[in-house]
Amino acid sequence: MPSLALLGGPPACTVNWPTWPVWDDSERRALLDVLDSGKWWYGARVQQFERAFAAFHDAEFGITTTSGTTALETALLALGIGAGDEVIVPPYTFLATASAVLRVNAVPVFADIQPHTLCLDPDDVERKISPKTKAIIPVHLAGHVADMDRFSTIARQHNLYVIEDACHAWGSQWRGKGVGALGDCGVFSFQASKNITSAEGGIILTNNAELARECRSYVNCGRREGKPWYEHFLLGSNLRMTEFQAALLLAQLSRLPAQNERRAANAQRLFDGLRDLPALRLIQNDPRITRRAYHFFPFRLDLAALQVSRARFKDALAAEGVPTMIGYDRPLYKNPLFQRTWDRGPASCPISCPFYGLPVDYTTVHCPVCEAVVQDTLWLFHTILLAEPAAIDALIAAILKLFDHLDELRS
Ligand SMILES: Cc1ncc(COP(=O)(O)O)c(C=O)c1O
Repeated sequence: MPSLALLGGPPACTVNWPTWPVWDDSERRALLDVLDSGKWWYGARVQQFERAFAAFHDAEFGITTTSGTTALETALLALGIGAGDEVIVPPYTFLATASAVLRVNAVPVFADIQPHTLCLDPDDVERKISPKTKAIIPVHLAGHVADMDRFSTIARQHNLYVIEDACHAWGSQWRGKGVGALGDCGVFSFQASKNITSAEGGIILTNNAELARECRSYVNCGRREGKPWYEHFLLGSNLRMTEFQAALLLAQLSRLPAQNERRAANAQRLFDGLRDLPALRLIQNDPRITRRAYHFFPFRLDLAALQVSRARFKDALAAEGVPTMIGYDRPLYKNPLFQRTWDRGPASCPISCPFYGLPVDYTTVHCPVCEAVVQDTLWLFHTILLAEPAAIDALIAAILKLFDHLDELRS
C-alpha cells in the first residue's frame, strides 16, 4: 500500500486554505458611503489613504496611481530618467520592474540576484554600473527587503537614484523604518492578488517634496497644484485613483497589520518546522529586516540531492493537500520582448535607441543565480500564511512525509 497521496495513499493535509481577497462589512459600508456621497472622483478618500499609507511606511508623501506599473513609470519620469539612460534591475521579478524602464525610453540592465535572499545582488549591481547608469530598482521580493544599506552606499558613491519596487512588501521594515522611502522613492501595487487590494491601483512613496510634486503632476495630466485647471506643464497622463478604490484600500489597510503579523508568525512556524531538511533551502530573513510582509513564502529544492524533479515534488505536495506555485518561470530577459522574438518584428526604441549609442542585445545576458532559481523554486502563496497554526502544522507534516518517502517519490 503506497503512503504518498500521489500514488493512492491518504493525504497528509485536508485543510480548506483561506481564499483571497478578504473583506467584510467595513469594505461594504465604505463602498456604499462613496456611492451615496455622489463624490466618486479623486477626492478626500484618496488623500486620506495616501496619508495613511505613507504614515504606515514612515514616509512623508504618498501619490496614488492606477497600478504598480504606472507608479514605476511615473517615478522614473519624475526623476528625469529617459532616452540614453541605463537602469539596473533584477531579472527575478514581474515584467513591470523592467518594462517601466523601457516605457520611459531608457535601457534596463540586468544584475543577478542573491541565492539566499532572491533579491538584487549589490555586488553584481556594482559590476553593471556604467557612465550611463542613472538608477537602481531593487525589488523587495516576496516582502524580503533587499540590502538597502548597500544600495544606499552604492547610490551615494555613483550618484544614482534608488527606486524601491515594494510591490510585494506592504509594511516591511528595514532597521525599524518602513520600505518605500528608504531610497529616493518606492512603489507599491494594489492589484487583485496583492496583500492589500482594490483590484487595481498603486502608490509612490517618497520623503522628497519636489519629487512628490512632480509625481503628482505626471499622474494628473501635467497639472500643478494651485494653477488653473486647464493649464498643463508636463507631458503627464491620467493615472488617478477613484474614491471607490481609496475607500476599499482604507478598509484593507486597517486589516493589514494583523494579517501581516499572522503571516509572519506562520512563516516562523514553517522555518521552525522545516529547518532540518537540508534539501529544502528556506529563504531566511536578513536580521536587519525588523518587520516582514509575505506576499509568498519561497523555498528552493536541492534537486540533485532529492533526485526528484520540481514538477513531481509539486504534484506530490498538491496531492497531499498543499498547493504551491512555480512563480517566475524564467529570468525576465528570456522573454520574447527582450529576445526580439516577439511576433511584430524587432522591438523599437529604446532596444534600438539612437540616443543610447550602443547595441542592446539581451540574448547574451546571463544571470546564473536567477537561471538556477527559476528551475528549483516553489512559492506558497500569502493566503496559506493566513491559515490557523494547526493548518501550518499539517502543511509541515505533508512536506516531512514527502521527505520520509523519497523512494516512493523517485519510483
Ligand atoms: C514586483 C512587482 N513589481 C511591479 C508590479 C506591477 O504592479 P501592477 O500589477 O499593479 O501593475 C508587480 C505586480 O505583480 C510586481 O509583482
